[in-house]
Amino acid sequence: MTDQPSNLFASRLQAYQERIERALPELAGDPDPLTGGLVVTAARYSLLAGGKRIRPVLLLAAADMLAPDQDEHLAGRLLRFACALEMIHTYSLIHDDLPCMDDDDLRRGRPTCHKVYGEAMAVLAGDHLLNRAYEVMLSAVEPSRPETLAAAQRVSAAAGRSGMIGGQVLDLQAENTRLSPDALERLHQMKTGALLAVPAEAAALLCGADEDTVRQLAAFGRHLGLAFQIRDDMLDQTADAKTLGKTAGKDQRDMKSTFVTLFGLEEAGLRLRQETDEAEESLEALDKTYDTKFLVSLARFLLRRRH
Ligand code: IPE
Ligand code: IPE
Ligand code: MG
Ligand code: MG
Ligand code: MG
Repeated sequence: MTDQPSNLFASRLQAYQERIERALPELAGDPDPLTGGLVVTAARYSLLAGGKRIRPVLLLAAADMLAPDQDEHLAGRLLRFACALEMIHTYSLIHDDLPCMDDDDLRRGRPTCHKVYGEAMAVLAGDHLLNRAYEVMLSAVEPSRPETLAAAQRVSAAAGRSGMIGGQVLDLQAENTRLSPDALERLHQMKTGALLAVPAEAAALLCGADEDTVRQLAAFGRHLGLAFQIRDDMLDQTADAKTLGKTAGKDQRDMKSTFVTLFGLEEAGLRLRQETDEAEESLEALDKTYDTKFLVSLARFLLRRRH
């Protein structure tokens, strides 16, 4: 396993990120202040602050792997689903940072949404992004194509009570308690894993892949999603706020249940590697038919990410 991402991988990652950066401003909504658009201004402040865009990258990359020759309709549908995922993710961050949740002042290298626009506007900005995400995603659903509806349903489930929202509930309930390893894994799978697992699965559905392929990509995403949150837990302890673009050391401060606070850095690192290996293994069955290199490199890159 090489430790440095290749130039080819880095430039492809950047190209995906740039595509998303170009599409998001147009899809985020109209900030006209005369029609309540302050909420859009607040949402755009957080959305366009330059996150890593990993969820939409995953969707676009999985789709390029499965369907390298996309017509413009499919490409447009994929991009809208990808941007919808980023909007849902950003809404989850705005709400996660609120004083009633993790109470954070810094996000994506800027003061958090509620620090700039106030708590009420930050709640509404999150609400706006969630609703806008559905508007954008549903504009890519075609009644004559059941797979587009299935993909939208998977995204909704991943964002909701059986995914991210349910996981956030477990996360808050776990403060000041000592979870079992299984319970912690469930929490992480839900709060973060679900939204990282669904992009590849949605891509597979939208590209009309067979059931086995959908299943294998979903398994890849599940391992990757768990690995992603374990790395987040490790960085909370080891990195500084300037590199992270968000407050460091807050999990200990808030008595959160994480892989690091419960099991220590070393154990967390081992589990991170194991989940990354399993993510890679999930792609092995696809290797004969598809070029899995970019997804494998992405998993390895995320294992070592510094922010
Ligand atoms: C941070 O997500 C919150 C988690 C779910 C771990 P990211 O690390 O993807 O944050 P951005 O989008 O790059 O800011
Ligand atoms: C966030 O987990 C998960 C979300 C659903 C937003 P964290 O609370 O650990 O994320 P950070 O560290 O604030 O980005
Ligand atoms: Mg949190
Ligand atoms: Mg947080
Ligand atoms: Mg964290």
